[in-house]
Amino acid sequence: MHISVIGCGYLGAVHAACMAQLGHQVTGFDVDAAKISALQRAEAPFFEPGLPDLLAETMATGRLTFSTDPASVQGAAVHFVCVGTPQAENSNAADMTYVDAAVTALLPHLADGDLVVGKSTVPVGTAERLAEQVTAAQPGATLVWNPEFLREGFAVKDTLHPDRVVYGVPEGAAGESAAAVLDEVYAAPLSEGTPRIVTDYATAQLVKVAANSFLATKISFINAMAELCEATGADVTQLADAIGHDARIGRRFLNAGLGFGGGCLPKDIRAFMARADELGVDQALSFLGEVDAINGRRRERMVTLAEEELGGSVKGRRIAVLGASFKPNSDDVRDSPALDVATKLEELGAQVIMTDPEANANAKARRPQLAFVPSAQDAAEGAELILLLTEWQEFVDLDPEALADLVDTPRILDGRNALDPAAWRAAGWTYRALGRGKH
Ligand code: UGA
Repeated sequence: MHISVIGCGYLGAVHAACMAQLGHQVTGFDVDAAKISALQRAEAPFFEPGLPDLLAETMATGRLTFSTDPASVQGAAVHFVCVGTPQAENSNAADMTYVDAAVTALLPHLADGDLVVGKSTVPVGTAERLAEQVTAAQPGATLVWNPEFLREGFAVKDTLHPDRVVYGVPEGAAGESAAAVLDEVYAAPLSEGTPRIVTDYATAQLVKVAANSFLATKISFINAMAELCEATGADVTQLADAIGHDARIGRRFLNAGLGFGGGCLPKDIRAFMARADELGVDQALSFLGEVDAINGRRRERMVTLAEEELGGSVKGRRIAVLGASFKPNSDDVRDSPALDVATKLEELGAQVIMTDPEANANAKARRPQLAFVPSAQDAAEGAELILLLTEWQEFVDLDPEALADLVDTPRILDGRNALDPAAWRAAGWTYRALGRGKH
């Protein structure tokens, strides 16, 4: 099939390459010339495992091209809208500027029979509004809402082998034929038995924000338990293991620590609350305010622990921060808990030396006041305290004995419960973690 992908960020670039991998002819469009020129050279504009190889492979077949020309989408039968919906500057709501601009740019190029497929995470009601615009511009075109569930770091796998596909379609024949076209697009994953849910616009849009809200709630639940563990001397990691054995609860997404960040979970729960407010059902989601607050408190707690470990103040003290990205295997620093904690410590007068395997450049662009070094060893040199804030495998694998030789004082705070406390203590370190007692 001939497909266009509008917006080539984390979602769109991966989606475009994966659609080409599935055998489709794909044109990726973005207004960002730097991003497109990198993609035209088969270079991923951000760190995503597997994407550079996939781009090289699919671009060599001639099935994948990229352009900054809005007319390049012409001729495609299916147009995926993959632009971002960040948090608006002055409110909790989603900023719809990019979605609106993408659809406006697409409208003049729509042909009879085309499908416009929304993948961006949007406030419920957006699809209904955009469908009117699509039909007004081209009565023979149909809008479908097809939310995306990929995780950064696993984006290629999640796109090629999704755990479900959801189509929000209009009622009647138009909806049925739209679903048939999407079945053709996703023929390969569907043939693997991927569950497929065909529903209305409202449900499809809500599925996405409901899923992210549930995940955020699960993380904040275990982090609330971490607060209880800290007050009682209990161990949140053992608590998570024990409750996680109940299949109804499940152990995944119960890792206590610094909490969630990134370009999705934080802004999605806030936008969902803002939308519920507009719909007059704000009480239904008031718990998400608590989820957000628990999440924020973990960052503050880490700063407090750092102060405690350094005898009450971090002023003038040398602190090594391991990790800047919001999670491992990503260079994304949007709403990164690690970067947030490092920034607060710097504001309190600490001398912060930060390192991340992939996110140093992005973090420096946002926080030029922080110092960045290439490796954990460089950061540890002369440090009075180490904070592990993003659990990259290379940090988890650090040798506590070798690192002890580099630091001023062997003290570590594990913000992700990722290290083996016994091994670090045996190597002479003072080890503390969020949600666990001192011993
Ligand atoms: C999230 C969802 O997991 C995807 O399903 C969704 O498609 C995506 O948002 C999106 O809306 O586009 P992502 O933002 O890539 O994906 O990151 P997650 O893997 O969900 O992690 C989010 C944050 O939660 C990270 O900061 C991570 O460190 C934290 N986390 C995760 C925990 O603190 N504890 C856990 O147990 C799991």
